[in-house]
Amino acid sequence: MSEQDDQIFLKRFSLIIAGLAIFAVLIVGLAMTMNDRLAVSESTASGPATLERIKPVFAVYAGETGRAAAMAAAEEAAASGGGQQVAFDGSTDGEMIYNNVCQACHMAGAAGAPQLVAAQWEERLPQGEDTLVQHAINGIGAMPAKGGRSDLTDEQVRASVEYMLAEIE
Ligand code: HEC
Repeated sequence: MSEQDDQIFLKRFSLIIAGLAIFAVLIVGLAMTMNDRLAVSESTASGPATLERIKPVFAVYAGETGRAAAMAAAEEAAASGGGQQVAFDGSTDGEMIYNNVCQACHMAGAAGAPQLVAAQWEERLPQGEDTLVQHAINGIGAMPAKGGRSDLTDEQVRASVEYMLAEIE
């Protein structure tokens, strides 16, 4: 009686084990197929879109290498048609342009950029506003032309220089 019970138990038990094994193989197969499909769609379609989304908002260019990098970035922007577009829709709001572009260096004094304190402008101011504007447009020392934003117009650079001069204290 008990031997027979054992045999029935063993039969059922091995059936269940076999069923579970087949189920496991199926699940693994399904997972592998799904993984293949996801990998394909990611590498082809969303790759460039992801790069576009995670690219830096802006960069700080400092020193001679920074100058070269700023030039390359400006050329790239010009080549892609971006250079044609005027920054900030042509706004001549000096404060806004300063906050978005110039402040990156001039607030902390990065790469020796003069901060908006009188002591750092004593030797610069006597050049006159026009010369300061020209230097900001063409670049001077470690400062790239137009602070690295070649899409700024000369008027926009002038407006931001005027804002800076008014803010010096
Ligand atoms: C990448 C950093 C950087 C950015 C961005 C930047 N500057 Fe400068 N700027 C400098 C540095 C460095 C100097 C000092 C250059 C020197 O005298 O050697 C400087 C100097 C100047 C001067 C003084 C020039 C002179 O003749 O003494 C003016 C004016 C100026 N910047 C305006 C601007 C304006 C306006 C912007 C924004 C449109 C701007 N800068 C953005 C780094 C920067």
